[in-house]
Amino acid sequence: MARKKITVVGAGHVGAHTALWLATKELGDVVLLDIIEGVPQGKSLDLMEAAPIEKFDSYVRGTNDYADTANSDVVIITAGIPRKPGMSRSDLINTNVGILKTVVEGIVKYSPNAYLLIVTNPLDVMVYAAWKYSGLPSHKIMGLSGALDGSRMRSFIAMELGVSMSDVHAMVIGGHADEMVPLKRYATVSGIPISQLIPDDRINSIMERTKKAGGEIVALLKTGSAYCAPSAAVAEMAEAILKDKKRVMPCAAFCSGQYGVKDMFIGVPVVVGANGAEKILEIELDNDERAAFNNSVNAVKSLIDELKIGQ
Ligand code: LAC
Repeated sequence: MARKKITVVGAGHVGAHTALWLATKELGDVVLLDIIEGVPQGKSLDLMEAAPIEKFDSYVRGTNDYADTANSDVVIITAGIPRKPGMSRSDLINTNVGILKTVVEGIVKYSPNAYLLIVTNPLDVMVYAAWKYSGLPSHKIMGLSGALDGSRMRSFIAMELGVSMSDVHAMVIGGHADEMVPLKRYATVSGIPISQLIPDDRINSIMERTKKAGGEIVALLKTGSAYCAPSAAVAEMAEAILKDKKRVMPCAAFCSGQYGVKDMFIGVPVVVGANGAEKILEIELDNDERAAFNNSVNAVKSLIDELKIGQ
């Protein structure tokens, strides 16, 4: 069986770490693309030199040329500028949409059948833009949101209780922005609702921390944003596609009426497999959750309207 081919666009911290997770999981051969000469080549070579220690045979290659990405199965787009302290993800919009357009056009020219996973912020708007610019069917495009935000919430719950990270599940829906919606009713520890294990005020502070978790890291790092958890989460999405795992993960996926949302991408629970976003699971939301979700949808919608993409 031929190896799969995965392209990672952007050789910054997120891109390079994504290549690392993909290679160590041997999900396929990896092409790391960036416009800066030498950087993707150097980071790829560095990874290859770790292969004998970590015992992976994925071939990682750096390039500045889109032709080298030809016939990729999955393309992960991390290119764009990250936040600085005090910035919101939406402050990046004009710069990053320009970068995204160039990248998507370069990618689909050589890989017309690829699945696209978007990491660039503001996330839900960039996924929409990637759909418009690529002309790809909507199920082939997803964005990194809840897989990351849910992992953050899971880690906070596990640290709060001093229990295994593996036993904690959590669902975060809505946009990958300050308006995201952590669903406390759906967070469990081995099936036990967290409301039976953690007092309400502590649950509320975990939810608040989850919403601001990206900003917490930006404030600590001062130069750049998080990259370990984002790269691990997007590699997990790629794995779900490449191995047809039918994972149930919250991702920014195209809604055609689900949750009352039409013709836009927003974080919802999705079955992810060989056909990309295969099915959106519509879970029951109470009035507060629904209101918070709608608020998040409206925030994304106004950014899309502001950009006038595809209008
Ligand atoms: C974060 C960036 C990836 O949440 O949006 O850290």
